[in-house]
Amino acid sequence: MRWLVNGAPDAQIDVTDRGFSYGDGLFETIAVRNGQLRFFGAHYARLVLSCRRLLLPVPDQHALTENATRLMGDDTDGTLKIIVSRGPGERGYRLPKTTQPTCAIGFSPEPVTLSPVDGIVATVCTTRVSSNPATAGMKTLNRLEQVLARAEWDDPAVAEGLMQNMSDDLIGGTMSNLFVVLRDQLWTPVLDESGVHGVMRAQVMNLAEDLGIACNERRLTPGVLEEAEDVFFTNARVGVWPVARIAGYEYVRHPRTLEIMRGLAQRGVIECAH
Ligand SMILES: Cc1ncc(COP(=O)(O)O)c(C=O)c1O
Repeated sequence: MRWLVNGAPDAQIDVTDRGFSYGDGLFETIAVRNGQLRFFGAHYARLVLSCRRLLLPVPDQHALTENATRLMGDDTDGTLKIIVSRGPGERGYRLPKTTQPTCAIGFSPEPVTLSPVDGIVATVCTTRVSSNPATAGMKTLNRLEQVLARAEWDDPAVAEGLMQNMSDDLIGGTMSNLFVVLRDQLWTPVLDESGVHGVMRAQVMNLAEDLGIACNERRLTPGVLEEAEDVFFTNARVGVWPVARIAGYEYVRHPRTLEIMRGLAQRGVIECAH
């Protein structure tokens, strides 16, 4: 992965940076396809909204795309990461008198990830996601819960781990949002207390609306896995990950999942392996 820190290729991050000390910041992970930042508008909108909620200065959109283009060079496919932190600070949680945010942009050239129609194997994590409306929905730099959850398995055959909150509600994957197909409709966890408002989740919800498929945001309990006709995870980088097996339940692709996957592929926003 190559990086620009505040626009400079060889810059270092200050050891007093509050992103390092407190996880005081945000990040975005963006798929790059054919030299384009996929859904840049949606990623930037989430970043702006989250910066406002965290009282962080909003990074300039033009500077971000310009630096991203510089960093990508001739590479056309991969993953772009934007990290914004509150920058250097004195000891203590109090906000600095003047904020000099750090903005790091990283790019990793990678082959395009295909969404596997056959599905992935997933596990249910024991590490829980905490509930906090103050940080819910955002991609903050505080990812310890996901780090611990991801440390629960080492089997390369397992692609994702499902996480619950302390009330046992299903929230999403360690790095993805969750959808369940039930009674021919889509169901996805409500994210007002935990989870990330995923860019791909919003794409799925928009497409479902356009296709006339009901999509319900609800509290989902683990029992839904038994009733579910299909289950899939979404994420901006991997697209749609249907689940073949989780917690002893097995799923085959439901027509609604296939409609969503094909619809997204037709819109050019995921690549499916058929
Ligand atoms: C915890 C979590 N939930 C959901 C998502 C999906 O978000 P997006 O669709 O914007 O990639 C991510 C992405 O990394 C994530 O880390």
